[in-house]
Amino acid sequence: MRIWLDGALRDVDDARVSVFDHGLTVGDGVFETLKAEGGRPFALTRHLDRLTRSARGLGLPDPDHDEVRRACAAVLEANPMPFGRLRVTYTGGVSPLGSDRGDGAPTLIAAVAQSTRRPDTTSVVTVDWVRNERSAVAGLKTTSYAENVVALAAAHRAHASEALLANTLGRLCEGTGSNVFVVLGGELHTPPLASGCLAGITRALVVEWAGAKETDLPFEALQQAEEVFLTSSLRDVQAVLRVDGRELGAAPGPATAEAMRIFEAKAGAGLDP
Ligand SMILES: Cc1ncc(COP(=O)(O)O)c(C=O)c1O
Repeated sequence: MRIWLDGALRDVDDARVSVFDHGLTVGDGVFETLKAEGGRPFALTRHLDRLTRSARGLGLPDPDHDEVRRACAAVLEANPMPFGRLRVTYTGGVSPLGSDRGDGAPTLIAAVAQSTRRPDTTSVVTVDWVRNERSAVAGLKTTSYAENVVALAAAHRAHASEALLANTLGRLCEGTGSNVFVVLGGELHTPPLASGCLAGITRALVVEWAGAKETDLPFEALQQAEEVFLTSSLRDVQAVLRVDGRELGAAPGPATAEAMRIFEAKAGAGLDP
């Protein structure tokens, strides 16, 4: 396995970051996860733009898009695989122990790991932990993901693949690593960015391509929806079969199946929509 770290490809055993890296000590970093099929990343430009938005949100210097593109191309070429999770991590770099950031250069890592295509359907659970839509880092893809680690582990214990969260106002928000769509009265809806959810790239493409509405919804909409589906870079559009104890009938339902079909067709037409 070869990893890109700070300007060069290295063997995994030589790719080391400092124990004083601010990404490690306080989660001061941002990241992107991309799907790479046959060594080609999907929607790279959108991911680079979001990486910059997240970095600016933390006050990190803008990442150099040309360098990140080179890093991604290099790791994909060095680690051929049919279906991979390509991960770009960009942190505050070597810093004092504490929340103040140092003045060293940021750390840039690109790595890819073999993955498998998700099943078409899955189960989700709701959890009582909330997303804080008023957080200083709301909507930023930071490496401070411990809340998601805890909620996802709870989902796995309940034999589900995702945990869905409300925000502090009790409105539907998102999953630990996915956005959520519901079908109500035959129409597709997904929470607005003001809910505190991440501006998912798959979410944006489904809104654009399948004409979903961005609607502020109560968390309970999950219990009333005719259909529910998740979106993320590695899930694409994935139908939800069960929410907590409730079976949603035949999944994917008609609206979800249509969203899946549209997504596959449009995504197949161009790698960098
Ligand atoms: C919290 C969160 N919400 C939503 C998503 C989905 O975003 P995308 O479609 O850009 O992968 C992710 C992606 O990993 C995420 O971490």
